[in-house]
Amino acid sequence: MRILSIDPDPIAEIPFLNAGRGPGGFYEDRLPILDAVVDRLPDGVSVIIAAADLQGRERFQDSPNGVPRLLGEALPSRLATEILPGVGLDTGGVGVFLAGDLYTVPALDRRGGSGDVRAVWEAFGDEFSWVVGVAGNHDTFGADPNAPPRFPRHLHYLDNDRANIDGLKIAGLGGIIGNPRRPRRRSDEQYTECLEALLRHRTDILITHDGPNDPIGGHHGSPLIREVVERLRPSLIVRGHAHWKQPLARLSGGVQVLNVDARVVVLHE
Ligand SMILES: [Fe+2]
Repeated sequence: MRILSIDPDPIAEIPFLNAGRGPGGFYEDRLPILDAVVDRLPDGVSVIIAAADLQGRERFQDSPNGVPRLLGEALPSRLATEILPGVGLDTGGVGVFLAGDLYTVPALDRRGGSGDVRAVWEAFGDEFSWVVGVAGNHDTFGADPNAPPRFPRHLHYLDNDRANIDGLKIAGLGGIIGNPRRPRRRSDEQYTECLEALLRHRTDILITHDGPNDPIGGHHGSPLIREVVERLRPSLIVRGHAHWKQPLARLSGGVQVLNVDARVVVLHE
């Protein structure tokens, strides 16, 4: 699967509350939804939605009981009922790529909080055919910060693992490079060893939370991860964690990197 183009003008922008520093410091922000055309999707798949770093909550006026849900918990039904039909896209056969960091503290008074993101995965799973993705460095799935989630079969949580969904060969590596004594972190060596082992198999999509830098576009990321993916060449990488001005980069050797930090990209033929 290759991305042919991404329209720089969003098809929609979802207003949401972004956390500030201190009580009452939150502010309204906008999540852009971008439209992208790919060369082909597997049979039976009409659209793939890719997102990461949905670190915010819905606005009070949009909350069903006045308590703002996580942005990613509120988003799937809007995508399914308003946004996809609004641009003439089929809402049957929709897959989802989640690249991590889907939590924000309920009081919206602190950035970079960690917490339970099961409700976000489940909300996407309630609206769409399947979800595949990885954990960000701030995501937990229940009380134990290192425990993997227990999800129904159509939600594919990958941590240093692979899945074959509708013929797409997908590899996923969650967390970031960092101090391995902290949750969701691997050392340089651990991370690159896992990545190399995953990419020894043919890979259509690699989903990571951390990810390669893009020296040509001047976008942040890991040169170490870039070296591995340029050598072992998955067709497409979907990543979050670091915000890039441009959503799409092309590395040497032709590997495409789709950065979905704080944005949603809707991929279709
Ligand atoms: Fe992150």
